[in-house]
Amino acid sequence: MREPGPSRRAREITAFQVMEIMEAAKRLEAAGASVIHLEVGEPDFPTPACVLKAARKAMRAGRTRYTHSLGLPELREEIARRYAAEARVPPSPDQILVTAGTSPGMLLLFAALLEPGDEVILSDPGYSCYPNMIKFAGGRPVYVAARAADGFQVDPEEIARAVTPRTRGIVVNSPSNPTGAVLDDERMAAIADLGVPLIADEIYHGLVYGPPCRTALAYADAAFVIDGFSKRYAMTGWRLGYVIVPPAFVRPIQKLAQNFYISANDFIQWAALAALREAGPDVERMAAVYDERRRFLGPALRRLGFDLPNEGRGAFYLFAGIRSFAGSSQEFVDRLLAEAHVAVAPGSDFGPGGEGFARFSYAASLDVLAEAVRRIEAWIRRKA
Ligand SMILES: Cc1ncc(COP(=O)(O)O)c(C=O)c1O
Repeated sequence: MREPGPSRRAREITAFQVMEIMEAAKRLEAAGASVIHLEVGEPDFPTPACVLKAARKAMRAGRTRYTHSLGLPELREEIARRYAAEARVPPSPDQILVTAGTSPGMLLLFAALLEPGDEVILSDPGYSCYPNMIKFAGGRPVYVAARAADGFQVDPEEIARAVTPRTRGIVVNSPSNPTGAVLDDERMAAIADLGVPLIADEIYHGLVYGPPCRTALAYADAAFVIDGFSKRYAMTGWRLGYVIVPPAFVRPIQKLAQNFYISANDFIQWAALAALREAGPDVERMAAVYDERRRFLGPALRRLGFDLPNEGRGAFYLFAGIRSFAGSSQEFVDRLLAEAHVAVAPGSDFGPGGEGFARFSYAASLDVLAEAVRRIEAWIRRKA
């Protein structure tokens, strides 16, 4: 019998570099080094107490079973209520599917949307998992530059030029991972007016350091919204997200979910309901702390000689030019980890347009950030 080998589709998936850097950092730690972690996009705050309490209560009440494959009706209703005031056409709870994390929601959505060869427009740089998911679902990512000179905002006219008869959607991620850029209102409106469905990843909404972002449903009568509890509510390990989709997509995505993971976790959905109903003040408190860290780290990086095209208006990332220090993003990241024990993410992981940059996450305390700055400064001096 011939040895089975992995499929072409599986072989072609590129690694999520952020996780690879984190694993390399953990190896250094296991060998005794003290490493500062600014590579992962993960809140350092504990999950809010009201969420923990609701999870414990739900477990004690026996909420440990499969739920409806679309998600708990109470949770879907609460999610729908959140969008009702802003959306042009308020979504019905029947358009909401609760998923085991935002990432599976995204994969199911692309799987339900794309025929082989269909195109999806993405910003470059952008979240590195989108192109892999699109390709896995048979589609083709089409990149539009989010230029440093433009504060990493995409240009609606360039998007318009990239649209073809095969275009099935335009992914918008504002605030953006990796750049922290927030698309301004006019650009969002112009993109929504192109007549191609928006696929809005709103996972960083609520973590904005300026005027709040409005949902894509405020700009278009119909859009695909992807969101989850990981970032805003400091719930990365709980694995809960949701998608809001036009009615025709509900049943196809539901069937995929039933086959692939049956339902999202029961007691975690009850905990998420508590997050929506009770954790607003926690989110505000965490956002204020992120803002303080952002205002510390940005000027510190500039002082050290990094090029910072924007101050990061949302999420918890700064995307800094590293050309004064290394020939490539990967070289910079590898050397900073090996020689200064500071882990950051290589810009090249986020698309060709991210080459020459590194992503610094400020989901770390001010003390940790100050120590990172000290180490980087000493490293730069040693290099000089
Ligand atoms: C833009 C963006 N979307 C989605 C995700 C994944 O979220 P989840 O933890 O809900 O799967 C991330 C995680 O880093 C992200 O940055």
